Amino acid sequence: MREGEFIAANTEVLEDQWISSWRAPSNIALVKYWGKYEGQIPANPSLSFTLSASHTNTTTLFEKKVSGDKMPTFELLFEGKPRADFNPKIATFLRRILPYSPWLGEYNLKISTENSFPHSSGIASSASSMAALSLCITEMERKLIPSMSEGAFLRKASFLARLGSGSACRSIEGPLVSWGEHEKLTGGSDLFGTAYSGPVHEVFRDTRDTILLVHKGQKTVSSTAGHSLMNGHQYASQRFSQAHSNLSALTEVLENGDLHRFAEIVESEALSLHAMMMTSVPYYLLMKPNTLAIIEKIWEFRRSTQVPVCFTLDAGANVHLLYPGTSADKVLQFIKNELVAYCEKGQYICDASGPGAKKLESAI
Ligand code: DP6
Repeated sequence: MREGEFIAANTEVLEDQWISSWRAPSNIALVKYWGKYEGQIPANPSLSFTLSASHTNTTTLFEKKVSGDKMPTFELLFEGKPRADFNPKIATFLRRILPYSPWLGEYNLKISTENSFPHSSGIASSASSMAALSLCITEMERKLIPSMSEGAFLRKASFLARLGSGSACRSIEGPLVSWGEHEKLTGGSDLFGTAYSGPVHEVFRDTRDTILLVHKGQKTVSSTAGHSLMNGHQYASQRFSQAHSNLSALTEVLENGDLHRFAEIVESEALSLHAMMMTSVPYYLLMKPNTLAIIEKIWEFRRSTQVPVCFTLDAGANVHLLYPGTSADKVLQFIKNELVAYCEKGQYICDASGPGAKKLESAI
């Protein structure tokens, strides 16, 4: 599909007021998106598990403006309070998506949003929050274009979410979503995320993700700044081809259920992501001493018990432990006995792979 196909035309019958509420989950990448081109186009394909417990609920009230220019306006409440520091990201998002949903220029958006996880937990909320807002907007658009199919609805929501935050395009569907073109991905696109349709072994049907909160403070370098450091990075082309080959290998593992090989690919992806940060100009580190201590403990535990648990990292110090539901008792015991001591205030979040976003009843 081409970008032009995402422009909503013929939307003359505009409602004066409309409300929409959606819950969108966070996601955790197995093959990482790191590096992008103009227009939020990823430098390499990525694949993620959609989560379920970590999510954002967003209600958007669309009110037709009486006058003014053709730019959408908005008011944002985060957990019931205005958060001026979030406004620039929403303003950029609305500016980017306006050419694709021009009817938005007629509206003021009253956005009310909250996360299921603490904002200062080091868990990125941009994926779930941009996905939830995009779903509200796409639902309004479907009101205006009733012929929109379910597939077109999901693609448009993901397309818009991508323009807010790249990884957000993988937070619409589940439980496995790819983004970007790759020979092994049928229907894969750089423009939107697609539910993974390849064969998946039953060992991955109930994948758990326990997120160990190692550092809850603000990151020193944002993901967006990190992506831009991949422009001209001395290892960029090797990294992009590594992501392609890891994705090929992962599709095989998803089919054959080889958890040993799964751990090798996923851990290599996480460490390669952080290696890119450490070799950027300027270089930086997001892992903390406790991140490394936890990784060493996981390796030791896996070696001595053969329990199939592995780790991944996003752009931060927190550690995601991935394991099948059948190993949950043993892994949770291990976390309590050996890993909690490395978590800030002993905190961790128990999450699991999930089906994707959900429409909510509007509360206001
Ligand atoms: C390390 O999607 O947060 O989590 O597109 O600039 O908003 P922007 O970046 P973002 O980057 C996420 C990077 C990552 C890997 C991943 O989720 O694939």
